[in-house]
Amino acid sequence: MTPSLPYVNSIPHLGNAVCVVSADVFNRFLKKEGCESRFICGTDEHGTRTEIEAKKRKMDPDKYCEQMNQKFKDVFDFIGVEFDHFGRTNNPVNHEITQSIFKDLYDKGYIFDKELTLLYCEKCKMYLADSYVEGTCPHCGAEDAKGDQCDNCSKFLEPVELIHPKCKICGSVPVVKRDMHIFLDLKKLQPKVKKWLLSNKNLKDDVKNFSLGWIKEGLHPRCISRNLKYGVKVPLKGFEDKVFYVWFDAPIGYFGATAEKYKDWKSWWQSAQHYEFMGKDNVPFHTIFFPAMLLGSNENDNKWVLPTNIGVNQNLNYEGKKFSKSHKRGIFLDDFMKLDIKADVLRYYIISVRSLHKDTEFSWDAFLGKNNNELVANYGNLVYRTLVFMSKNFGCVPDVAVDKSVVDEVSEKLSAADKFYWDLDFKEALKLIMEASSIANQYFQHSAPWDLVKTDKDKCSVVLRTCSEVILMLSKALWPIIPSASESVFKQLGFDKFDFSAKIKGGQKLGKVKVLFKKFDESMIDKYRDKFSGDLSEEDIFNSMDLRVAKIVDVKVHPDAKKLFIVDLDVGAYKKTIVSGLREHFSVDDLLGKKIILFSNLEPAKIRGVKSEGMLLAACGSGKLGLLGSDDKIGERVYAKSCSTPAKSVSYDNFSKLEILVDKDGNVVFCSHILKTSRGKIKVSGVGKGAKVC
Ligand code: MF3
Ligand code: ZN
Repeated sequence: MTPSLPYVNSIPHLGNAVCVVSADVFNRFLKKEGCESRFICGTDEHGTRTEIEAKKRKMDPDKYCEQMNQKFKDVFDFIGVEFDHFGRTNNPVNHEITQSIFKDLYDKGYIFDKELTLLYCEKCKMYLADSYVEGTCPHCGAEDAKGDQCDNCSKFLEPVELIHPKCKICGSVPVVKRDMHIFLDLKKLQPKVKKWLLSNKNLKDDVKNFSLGWIKEGLHPRCISRNLKYGVKVPLKGFEDKVFYVWFDAPIGYFGATAEKYKDWKSWWQSAQHYEFMGKDNVPFHTIFFPAMLLGSNENDNKWVLPTNIGVNQNLNYEGKKFSKSHKRGIFLDDFMKLDIKADVLRYYIISVRSLHKDTEFSWDAFLGKNNNELVANYGNLVYRTLVFMSKNFGCVPDVAVDKSVVDEVSEKLSAADKFYWDLDFKEALKLIMEASSIANQYFQHSAPWDLVKTDKDKCSVVLRTCSEVILMLSKALWPIIPSASESVFKQLGFDKFDFSAKIKGGQKLGKVKVLFKKFDESMIDKYRDKFSGDLSEEDIFNSMDLRVAKIVDVKVHPDAKKLFIVDLDVGAYKKTIVSGLREHFSVDDLLGKKIILFSNLEPAKIRGVKSEGMLLAACGSGKLGLLGSDDKIGERVYAKSCSTPAKSVSYDNFSKLEILVDKDGNVVFCSHILKTSRGKIKVSGVGKGAKVC
């Protein structure tokens, strides 16, 4: 069992975590099914990027990778991913295995050398390959294709094929140099790969057809050497100064990482079944490139196993955009560790949106919904209400028979869920398990044990015994996805520890009952949404502001701050109170009854003990202050270019990045658009050209 080995250079974001969590889910499911497994992963460490990152930190690349590797272990551990081993591709044993597989391929005649035209950046003094060169894809025209693969059409590329190549580090146009390199003869290996693909009965149709499509177009030999230092050395005369292309040694890293821990690693990789989990970009490497390597070296006596099945997930984006560490957008697992959110909730969410067929996105609203409506209101509620009621009225699980019809109905759903688990479609499995949980919740509700306990205690016992059995079944079925919650339920039911073979005994004493999941409130979610939304452009910030015409209906002096006013506003559909520093410039009478412009979704703040729910917009210049105003109706929206949907709230920090200025005609202008309502321009008086809204 292996998820793709993550690149060592950046801590995974939620999208990268999907395949790792999926693999963990399947590995746990296998335990439930009584299978013996090895769950192996590790960091994919070689390549240009590592050399550059290590240099930036003035570190030895191996030391740098070791440090990063530990961070990966920590974050995966935090989200409940229990590898049997998490290794490193720069481990000596991986070098050894890589070189030996290479020798096999060489002996079998699947390797040849050829002089190549390569791209070289004279400014950075390095050959440009893989992610260090960018240009237009010759196949689909995408403008940001990398030197080894186009992310848009997934086609494999060689750097010299790129149209208008540019060095990714310094932007210069590279020169062409000639150099000898080695190639894996994919063309020659094609019939073997095709035969394997056709014979594999488990691969999903779209994965298989996608790969057969490549074969139909014809495979081309692939360069597998690079002019780098940090990597696995090519063990061939004349190529001593070269290392392997990272995608040559990385998948062999599955073997290497296993060998780091297990002496019998070979027997696993030569006879066990192999399940792989990955994002869609990795598919061609695992259905064509890696199988070709293994099939080519298989003609020796060692017979490597090829993937039994591949669990592919499509991309998970972040609130409609791409995750980006540099733009601080989206949640990365190291950020997640600092939030007050249980790993189980994240795992549940990831599995419930993991899609095999289309790109999906993380959204805070959906995240809140899944937690509150499913984990809290469905499963959590069933467990809590059953156990609390039972604990209060019986103190133990009643020793009576269950209501068979309910248990049967639940069992049926759970066996159907198991089929989906085996088919690597965990989202469907989860849906069925939650349906089973709903069945039990409805049963509890309809049976009304709170009445039965007074009228028919025997029947009440049956209801509770039945719900307890169902809870046990559900927590076993959910353990692969939300292990900590299931383990807690076991304790609450009175077991020592989680165990698939556990059975409830009549009269069994309950443990301490606890709430499994807390409800998220909107304000927490708003805070997180804001925190991880990334650097917004000025236009994004402006468009997310809710500006309204409002009327000042009352003005009081702040009891604890002489310089501040407390201003009550009528905004049409609602009223607001704000605390404002206008007292230095205006009297109460200046303000009363005025129509002003309210920044109504400014993040609320307490100012000297009074809650302020927005701010009045004013322009200041040459020591003067002028209030922005309008004759339009109270409650009207104010905008610049066009009206857009405002965000729930906008921070003052973001607002203060904006340049909203008064022009020579007294208009208020943002990005060369005059601020207006649908009926007319916003006015400002008492300040001149260049005054800034603040
Ligand atoms: N590091 C690659 C990525 O993150 C995946 C490597 S998978 C392996 O896209 F099989 F090569 F290890
Ligand atoms: Zn392309």
